[in-house]
Amino acid sequence: MSTVFRPGFASPSIAFANRGSFCVASRAVVRQQHSTSVETRVNENNFERIYVQNGIAAEAKPLVVERIDKDENIREVVSVEDGSAENPEGVEIVSPRREESDIEKEAWKLLNDAVVRYCGSPVGTVAANDPGDKTPLNYDQVFIRDFVPSALAFLLRGEGEIVRNFLLHTLQLQSWEKTVDCYSPGQGLMPASFKVRTVSLDGDKTEEVLDPDFGESAIGRVALWTLGLWWIILLRAYGKITGDYTLQERVDVQTGIKLVLNLCLADGFDMFPSLLVTDGSCMIDRRMGIHGHPLEIQALFYSSLRCGREMLTVTDGSKNLVRAINNRLSALSFHIREYYWVDMKKMNEIYRYKTEEYSLDATNKFNIYPEQIPLWLMDWIPEEGGYLIGNLQPAHMDFRFFTLGNLWSVISSLSTPKQNEAILNLIEGKWNDIVGHMPLKICYPALENEEWRIITGSDPKNTAWSYHNGGSWPTLLWQFTLACIKMGRIDLARKAVSMAESKLGADRWPEYYDTRTGKFIGKQARLYQTWTIAGFLTSKVLLENPEKASLLFWEEDYELLEMCVCALSKTGRKKCSRVAAKSQILV
Ligand code: GLC
Repeated sequence: MSTVFRPGFASPSIAFANRGSFCVASRAVVRQQHSTSVETRVNENNFERIYVQNGIAAEAKPLVVERIDKDENIREVVSVEDGSAENPEGVEIVSPRREESDIEKEAWKLLNDAVVRYCGSPVGTVAANDPGDKTPLNYDQVFIRDFVPSALAFLLRGEGEIVRNFLLHTLQLQSWEKTVDCYSPGQGLMPASFKVRTVSLDGDKTEEVLDPDFGESAIGRVALWTLGLWWIILLRAYGKITGDYTLQERVDVQTGIKLVLNLCLADGFDMFPSLLVTDGSCMIDRRMGIHGHPLEIQALFYSSLRCGREMLTVTDGSKNLVRAINNRLSALSFHIREYYWVDMKKMNEIYRYKTEEYSLDATNKFNIYPEQIPLWLMDWIPEEGGYLIGNLQPAHMDFRFFTLGNLWSVISSLSTPKQNEAILNLIEGKWNDIVGHMPLKICYPALENEEWRIITGSDPKNTAWSYHNGGSWPTLLWQFTLACIKMGRIDLARKAVSMAESKLGADRWPEYYDTRTGKFIGKQARLYQTWTIAGFLTSKVLLENPEKASLLFWEEDYELLEMCVCALSKTGRKKCSRVAAKSQILV
């Protein structure tokens, strides 16, 4: 249903007219078209809305801002200076301290070749760039999530422009209007991917347009929750690494952050502080039985709340949001630390759970039937170590180990320092299962036979030990490296990176590997997959510059813990003080 969107063009349906950004040879035409769009974008929603009059070209200023404050319902029109001309010059170039290996040189070249330009400026990287692939499907698009490791590789090399452009262009694509048939998804949704298309105008003129996909063309029409979260995480990383904080301070960027977080924090029917999502709404974007409250979403949600708290300018208009963020952060970390964690001790507790407990002090709060503990887990759970389970719902614990969620819990300090250590101990102890021949398995174990048939709906791409169902994804390497550096386990990261280095180039940078130990290149894996290449490069640079890694992770926040302990103390469960916070099981 959706097509290319050109703001300001007369459109058969006004609902579809306001998304996207474009450029043409003649600037005058652009200005005229954009100013029309300002007039057509009348809305009745009580969010702050910003209309970029002249696109985000460097010379475009001032921006015209229409502000409709959420708290006060005040509407005003102001002009603000556009900070986009302030280029992050003086960015420190992290040059390698040694001659790069041939494989690294090849990887940098491939990453540069994957760069997508829009109106002459770099704006992202394609998902895969295999010259031999005649059916790239949508892998020739810039995927928001996939660009994150590319962005970090560029930033760590001192190239900020592409990341800045990416952040601003995706912001312009943030959903304002209808996208799928007659249904309008929530404001603030970020597209899953976008493509630069060249379209013909009258005469011999052409124009480039950014054509976003919010999931309306994706397999299963899935809307991807994590994309707004990744956008916020990348925005913070951009500021931290370049030292250019003017970008996050811009009014339109502040609005973008608020829209994403407002969407996530909106009230619903849920009783949990964790986010409720559909199946396939994260890196795993097909049916894999992860609907509900999957760990990956919670860890990225927590990280982006922490980013938001750091980046939001506190004003009268944003103070309620900041309060909501703080409350959610402490409730979410308590929930995950307490209820998602499993180790030997906790397993034994669950094994002996009583069910049908009806009261506020129930031990088995979610009415978990011990019979659902899978047989594989009884032998698998090590004496040392533990992990956060994949999902928690009434009468349901998904005991599968999901790597990305566990790694992001470590990186963001969603889990406690002790839990963080234990997660890395588990990966070390279960190296063959989680790392095997290629780091790292997306989840462990795979769904097999009947379970595969029922849970995936007999998905031929997600057969056991392939793709999302226990396949091994080299892109996870950079997040593993980051988690290891944070926890002082550089040895583990080095071991994984050198294993990847010995194979990836020769195997032509596959998207994923198959089999129980990740021995074969994935059945349907794309080759020259950009986030495989970028994940490897980012890991290499981080290992050589661990001080840069510290810009990308978070330490424990005792203020949040204190808030949480205070909240619990109201129910008479815990004593309220900072000392108490530090000594609770929460730490
Ligand atoms: C697959 C992955 C998804 C990724 C996309 C592009 O659909 O599941 O996470 O963003 O490919 O590489």
